[in-house]
Amino acid sequence: MSLGGSAEAVSASELSEKELAEIGLRFEVDGEIGTITLDRPGKRNAQTFATWSALARIGESLPSQVRVVVVKGEGPSFSAGIDLRMFTPEGVPGQGSFASVASLEEGDFEKRIADAQRGFLWLRRPDIVSIAAVQGHAIGAGFQLALACDLRVVADDVRFCMKEPALGLVPDLTGTKPLVDLVGVPRAIELCLTARTVGADEAVRLGLAELAVPVAELGQAVQDLAAALLATDRGAATATKRLLQAAPGRTLTEQAAAERAEQVVRIRTLFASG
Ligand code: ACO
Repeated sequence: MSLGGSAEAVSASELSEKELAEIGLRFEVDGEIGTITLDRPGKRNAQTFATWSALARIGESLPSQVRVVVVKGEGPSFSAGIDLRMFTPEGVPGQGSFASVASLEEGDFEKRIADAQRGFLWLRRPDIVSIAAVQGHAIGAGFQLALACDLRVVADDVRFCMKEPALGLVPDLTGTKPLVDLVGVPRAIELCLTARTVGADEAVRLGLAELAVPVAELGQAVQDLAAALLATDRGAATATKRLLQAAPGRTLTEQAAAERAEQVVRIRTLFASG
């Protein structure tokens, strides 16, 4: 998928382009658009702890001009979820296995999960809009990575599946809240506990995706959406996203107050003289 222009490969934090490649990631910045590519297509972009800490470091060192972050996967699938070697005694070289983390002290164990979650949480920052471009399978951690983004544009061959409960686990990469926010508790229970697959039409109908397009048009559709988002003033976009994100947790009166507070700042910024 090309986002047009001359994308420049950049290093995230201390991670070099080569280190990112070894983890199976690419990160490119083209003007105000940053693109994260899961780039292990031969393994269907399976994710590891290294993937998640690299994602966190990309977020921490995001160039300030970036306003839209696109998350996509190379090859036929967005992501087949966690690297299944985690379930084996050998695990993922240098990263351990579920058996090795199972013996960690409780605090260390939870910290390990919190570190992984940091790779997902920054995608909801109010000063950026994140878009997942999802084709093929998005299973488990792959589904959760798509859910971590503000918006999802899917190809008509998309296959979402929350497989964790079927493997004896819970979805713990920050996916449960956005899933419930999008589809409601009953549907979320049904999807998670049956681990059934959701295709493109149903994904749009349930609100899991904003838009479904033929697979060949996915890149262009994301580029068009990014361009439309970037046409809005950054300050207004950030303040509006902040308001919208907080709305479900507020009363109407509280939200009205929050609107006033944000608007005072907007109008002063735009019109106050001197
Ligand atoms: N971890 C590690 N390797 C994987 C994974 C994975 N999650 N998924 C696929 N691969 C590897 C396969 O082992 C295979 O490797 P090989 O060519 O060296 O044998 C290669 O990727 C291609 O996989 P295929 O199964 O041949 O690809 P296909 O396109 O036919 O199927 C699919 C794709 C449906 C995604 C299938 O690979 C699959 O079911 N993968 C496992 C999904 C899963 O259970 N993920 C865990 C979810 S739970 C969680 O994320 C916490």
